[in-house]
Parts: sequence; C-alpha cells; structure tokens
Amino acid sequence: MDTDTAALKRANQKIRQLCSRMHGKEPVASEGPLRVGVDLGTANVVVVVVDASGEPVGGALTPAAVVRDGLVVEYVRAIEIVRSLVAGLQAKIGRPLKIAATAVPPGTGRTDTAATAHVVEAAGLEVLAVVDEPTAAATLLEVTDGVVVDVGGGTTGISILQNGQVVYTADEPTGGTHFTLVTAGHFGISLEEAEAIKVQREKQKDLAPLLTPVMEKVATIVERHLRGFQVPRIYLVGGAVALEGFEQVIAKHLGVPVARPQEPLLVTPLGIALSCPVK
Ligand SMILES: Nc1ncnc2c1ncn2[C@@H]1O[C@H](COP(=O)(O)OP(=O)(O)OP(=O)(O)O)[C@@H](O)[C@H]1O
Ligand SMILES: [Mg+2]
Repeated sequence: MDTDTAALKRANQKIRQLCSRMHGKEPVASEGPLRVGVDLGTANVVVVVVDASGEPVGGALTPAAVVRDGLVVEYVRAIEIVRSLVAGLQAKIGRPLKIAATAVPPGTGRTDTAATAHVVEAAGLEVLAVVDEPTAAATLLEVTDGVVVDVGGGTTGISILQNGQVVYTADEPTGGTHFTLVTAGHFGISLEEAEAIKVQREKQKDLAPLLTPVMEKVATIVERHLRGFQVPRIYLVGGAVALEGFEQVIAKHLGVPVARPQEPLLVTPLGIALSCPVK
C-alpha cells in the first residue's frame, strides 16, 4: 500500500470514529486535556472534540447562515450557536471543554481572523490556534504535497500544498448551493425541498443529468487553477463532494489521482480540532 493510501485509511478511521461519537448516545471515556475544533462555515457550524492523543471524543453540527465569504456576518448569533453546541457536547462528554482551535480561509486578513477567534472566545473557549482551512484538512489527511479542493456551501476553495506549506490558493463562487439551485429549478420546488432531495444518496443517481454539469464546472475551475503546477493527487473535502460520482468526474477531467475521504464535510472540522495544541 502506498503511503498516501495508508494515510487516507487512518483519516477515514478517525472520521468513522467521530461519526460514531456524534451519533452515539453513550458518553465515551477520554483521558488528558480535551481539544476543540470550531469550523464556522457558510452552510454549517461544526464543533469537534478530540483528546490529547487525537482520538475523536465527540462532535456536533448545525446548519447556520452566520458566515459569508469566510467572514462572520452574524456575530451574536454565531456566538450563541458555538456556545450551545459546546454546552451540548460538555453535557454529553461529561467533562469541561476549555481550549480550542478555529480556522479561516487562506488569505483572510488580520481583522477578520480576529473576529473569528473572538466568536470562539466569547463562547467560552480559550483559542490557542487559528489555522487556515486547507492546512487543517491536510493535517488530518497527512498531506504535504497535493491540492485540497474544498467544495463547501457557496464556494470552491483550491489550495495547493508543497512540502507542507500552502503555496497557492483560490476561492471561486461555485459550491454546494449551486447543486441545490439546479435541482430546485428543474423540479420547480423550493430551495429547502431541493436541499432535502439532493443530500439523499439514493436520489443522486437519478439527479446525475442535473448535477454532473455542475461537477464538470467545478472540475474546469480546478483545472484552470492547477495550470503550471505538478500535483500528485487531488484531495476532495467539504460537504458537496459527498455527491455520488463527484470523485470520478474530477479524476476523469483532470487525469490526476483523486482521494475523497468518508464524510468529507467533517474533514476540515476534525483537522481543526487536531490542530489545537495540547496545553
Ligand atoms: N450528503 C450530501 N450530499 C450532497 N451534498 C451535501 C451532502 N451533505 C452536505 N452537502 C452540501 O454541502 C454543503 C455544505 O458543506 P460544508 O459544511 O463543507 O460547507 P461550509 O464549510 O459550511 O461552507 P464553506 O466552506 O463554503 O464556508 C451544502 O451545500 C450541503 O448541501
Ligand atoms: Mg468549510
């Protein structure tokens, strides 16, 4: 097995453990300081807890519209949401949560980075690190060289890593919402109804004629940004890449090996938690 495949297996195992902690009702035993990762996304706010050795202990998620273009636009609501998710996790885990990391899109300025950190601090956590989102994903996936493509709510983020450093980034306004828009338009239904249909795996095959052209568009965007770079592998993360067939469309279009971890929506949040230093 090549080293990339072994790393992906380790990441998938952690993601599966996180999912079972998120869905399980029973608290799990944990030792040492607990570290929290807070991902304030355009579509979702996700909070993940790992222990000192990086084992996932819990996680919680809520859809929210408190961030736009990587910036917190609903400050008070964002604090309330993080506080409530953290309170729920503390009750379930049975231990206090004190330290955290959070993340911002690459290239975010100092003021906006501080605003994101303030949300987490105001929710009662001490922020020990603010990392950039693709670096957080790369931490979990153990990527040092390759491209992380994050198809989130409203945008696709493209981040090229070389020797563990992000050397190129871009953000383009095509994301998960666009798959919802084409579904709503085709059936003449509301965005809420379309969203509910789109996320069902068993419906996605039937929706392929609608969704594949949007995936092709994402592939074209990625191709444009990769021009001039030699990338050994493309890592797909973010909620929208869970769509059936996304991996194949990107691989076929770009002719580069593609890795899509399980539950791609959780990759960046779990990577953020792992990026919190042990105090
Ligand atoms: N199972 C699924 N199948 C298809 N799409 C999904 C699935 N689960 C979530 N999505 C889509 O993923 C998007 C949200 O992904 P994610 O939580 O990664 O975004 P975000 O981090 O909040 O946004 P951003 O990174 O752009 O700020 C939504 O558009 C949602 O419809
Ligand atoms: Mg995101």
